[in-house]
Amino acid sequence: MISKLPGPVNNSDSIRLAIATWPEVEKYLKLCKGIILPIGSTEQHGPTGAIGTDALTAEAVAIEIGRRTGVFVAPTLAYGMAEHHLGFPGTMSLQPQTLLKVIHDLVLSLARNGFERIYVLNGHGGNIATAKAAFAEVYGTAVNLGIPVASTLRCKLANWFMTPTVFTEARNLYGDREGQHATPSEISLTLHLEPSLIKKQHELPEPALVGPIHGFEDFKRRYPDGRMGSDPFLARAEHGALLLERAAKALSQDLETFLTKS
Ligand code: NI
Repeated sequence: MISKLPGPVNNSDSIRLAIATWPEVEKYLKLCKGIILPIGSTEQHGPTGAIGTDALTAEAVAIEIGRRTGVFVAPTLAYGMAEHHLGFPGTMSLQPQTLLKVIHDLVLSLARNGFERIYVLNGHGGNIATAKAAFAEVYGTAVNLGIPVASTLRCKLANWFMTPTVFTEARNLYGDREGQHATPSEISLTLHLEPSLIKKQHELPEPALVGPIHGFEDFKRRYPDGRMGSDPFLARAEHGALLLERAAKALSQDLETFLTKS
């Protein structure tokens, strides 16, 4: 067994790396070598969705998993690969090579001090390819640098919005109006987390189209209001609470397996 699961905590403050001291982290590492790293994006989410949707949702799911398992949660990486959203104001993107280096350096920083299981909790589809490429590079670098845990270091990418129970629930709630970007499921979670967003929601006139993703100019021409195939006005805060529960339950089990069996 690699790690023991520390077990549920009453207060999420005790699992937030940002407010832990280094002696507390050192003590934690004697029991558990796992950590959750939430990553998101800062990008347009249609005319009614928050720019920070992917970071807010990833962080909330990560904290809820941390609360249920006792596993530490690192500060959220709120920026991701959002090149195709750059035609909309408020979007802030890292190019793939930049994001790769950021994830690479953050994971190696954790590994240097003994973390062996890095569970990257992702809120943005555009990060997937780059995060996996970063993991491939991390393993090689860890060996080359002689990091003691190099041979037992494991990274895992968990995309909360692709969790089978979340996917099924989203289908039940929204059918094919879930779409691919600015989806009612992710917007629902933000309404649950940030009630001030509820008053920004309204029906949108034209159904959103689906199609490919290329550059940001092409994206804005194809999807002028930023949505892809979605009807985000179907979002409700109570759906968000339900989806958070579905994601946290399934991913807490996934994390336990990752920490104790792989
Ligand atoms: Ni999103």
